[in-house]
This record gives sequence, structure tokens and C-alpha cells, in this order.
Amino acid sequence: MKDKLQALKSEALQAIQQAEQLSQLQDIKVTYLGKKGPITEILRGMGKLSKEERPVIGQMANDVREAIQAALDEKHATLEQARIEEQLAEQAIDVTLPGRPVNQGSQHPLFTVIEEVEDLFIGLGFSVAEGPEVETDYYNFEALNLPKNHPARDMQDSFYLTEEILLRTHTSPVQARTMEAYNGQGPVKVICPGKVYRRDTDDATHSHQFTQIEGLYVDKNVRLSDLKGVLTVFVKQLFGEDRDVRLRQHYFPFTEPSVEMDISCFKCGGSGCPVCKHSGWIEILGAGMVHPNVLRMSGFDPEVYTGFAFGMGPERIAMLKYGVDDIRHYYTNDQRFLKQFKRV
Ligand code: DAH
Repeated sequence: MKDKLQALKSEALQAIQQAEQLSQLQDIKVTYLGKKGPITEILRGMGKLSKEERPVIGQMANDVREAIQAALDEKHATLEQARIEEQLAEQAIDVTLPGRPVNQGSQHPLFTVIEEVEDLFIGLGFSVAEGPEVETDYYNFEALNLPKNHPARDMQDSFYLTEEILLRTHTSPVQARTMEAYNGQGPVKVICPGKVYRRDTDDATHSHQFTQIEGLYVDKNVRLSDLKGVLTVFVKQLFGEDRDVRLRQHYFPFTEPSVEMDISCFKCGGSGCPVCKHSGWIEILGAGMVHPNVLRMSGFDPEVYTGFAFGMGPERIAMLKYGVDDIRHYYTNDQRFLKQFKRV
């Protein structure tokens, strides 16, 4: 029995010594010290031994078990340490390596223009309002004095989702939504930037999706001269102090009278050049006095309130301002284009 224990001990210790992995130690532990292992078996069979032998063998079996356990613990510590060192060596960071360049994005030129316009109007006491891009026929057309079958609906080819729901063709529906929210009480002073959609074929100056900024000022005694005054401040800020503006008669269903606004050409100063097509003037937005029907439908009394509204396209403004020759540059995300607008 003693010899057997002695043999087990040296066999186990040798196995432990040769173990190269933590998982092997676990196997050795199960083999020698486990419930079905030889030492447990010996201890279980103690009853068959003589009285004299029992304490001697018992003591010896315990000693062997402790010796194996101690050897396992020691080897475990050694292998664990080696594993940590190996991992550290593998994951070492070479702090002397040069860094990878970080590709830094910049603001899209359209949003730079939108922000500039927003800042300017906020400075004039306007606030910013938003509305849904998926809009009802009512807000996109009817509330803007464009009843069903009105011929002027053809001015804006639309993407209809159902008979009553469409992708908004302009930001003007936000006018109606905002006025409704004011419950007939002025003043209303908002600008509404956002995306709009039209069934246009994309080319250098058309896109099926583009952005607009709408403006609306409704109060008692708002006049066409207020419209001209506010938009002149805006134009001078955006295109330079020397710009002149002129209003040209036009037609929009939601305004009466309606105008288009031109600025004197910033390239040639008005003498005529390719940018202004030799006219000296560049058209930049549509505007007018809010039609009484529009005021009424959104809860304002046209006998008490008047207002002006305007709508402009940031794409066109940025094209003019930065000399961009194709509207599609805004949407194709070519970095060679976008990088030119990086703010320093
Ligand atoms: N909604 C017009 C368009 O998309 C632009 C416009 C013109 C808006 C005159 C207005 C306005 O508010 O008064 O073509």
C-alpha cells in the first residue's frame, strides 16, 4: 500500500512538472485527487486494513494528497504568470509608431448657408420652426390657397404617397402649421429650413430633392416695404454691403401681391457678365404679402393682420456665393468638393 502511494505521488508530481498548460493541470487534479481517483479509493478502503496499518496509511495518503495539491498550486502560479507575460508581450504597444491620420469632416456648404441665414433672422427676432417632410395635401396646397385642380399645382410636380399624402414640394406648409399653432394671435416671426421634393429630372440646376428656407412675418400693419427692408438687410449681409435689390412682379397663389427678388450682380456690380446673364441682376427668391385666404384658413383675421412671406433655395444661394456650377455636387459627397468648404 505504501509503495502504491509512493508510486502515485511520484507519477503525479512528474505529470505536474511536465504540464505545459493550465488545462492539463485540471486534468491531473481530476485523475489523482478526484472522487474516483486512486487516493480517494485507498482512503475509502481503509476499513479493510488492520488497526495498526490504518493510521499510518491514512496519514501517508493525506500527505501524498497535500503534496500533489501543493505541486498543482505552485505549477498553476507559474503557468499563469507565463501566460500573463506572453499576453503582455503579444499586446505590447509601440509608442514610437507614427499615428494614423484622422480624417476630419467639415460642415456641408448647404448647412453653412442655412446656419448663416438662421443666425441672421434670429438676430432680427425670428425663431426657427420645422414641419414634416411627409405632408398632407391640405397643408402643402389647400391651406396655401391652392385648392384641388388649381392650375398652379402644376408649378410643382409632386411625389404623392396616397391621394392625400405627399412629400412636401416646398417649405410653405410650415407657414400654415405655424399660424394654426398661434391661434390667430400675432406676431408670428419664423423661418423654416428643410428638405423638399419634386418630380424633376436631375440635371445641373434641378434636383428631385433640395432644401428651402421659408420666412413668415404676420402682425398688425406689416407692409410690403417691411418685406423689402428685411430682405435688403439679409442680402447685404450674405452678399455684401454694395448689393442693391429690386422686386419684380410675379405670381404665387399664396401671396398677393407676389414678387420675385433680384440682387445686383456681385460679380460685375451690375454692368453685365456671364453670372448675371448680362442683365446685371440675379434672381434669388420668391416672396409676397400673405394672401388673405391663407391667413383666414390658418386662423388669422385678414382685417386685423397682414404679413409677408418668402421662400429661398440654399442650393442656389450657395451656388451663387461659392461659384458652384452643378447642383448635383451638393449630394454626391465627393470629398474633393466638400473639402473646399472646410472652415479654418
Ligand atoms: N413656395 C415657393 C416655391 O417653392 C416659394 C415661395 C414663394 C415661398 C413666395 C413663399 C412666398 O413663402 O411668399 O416656389
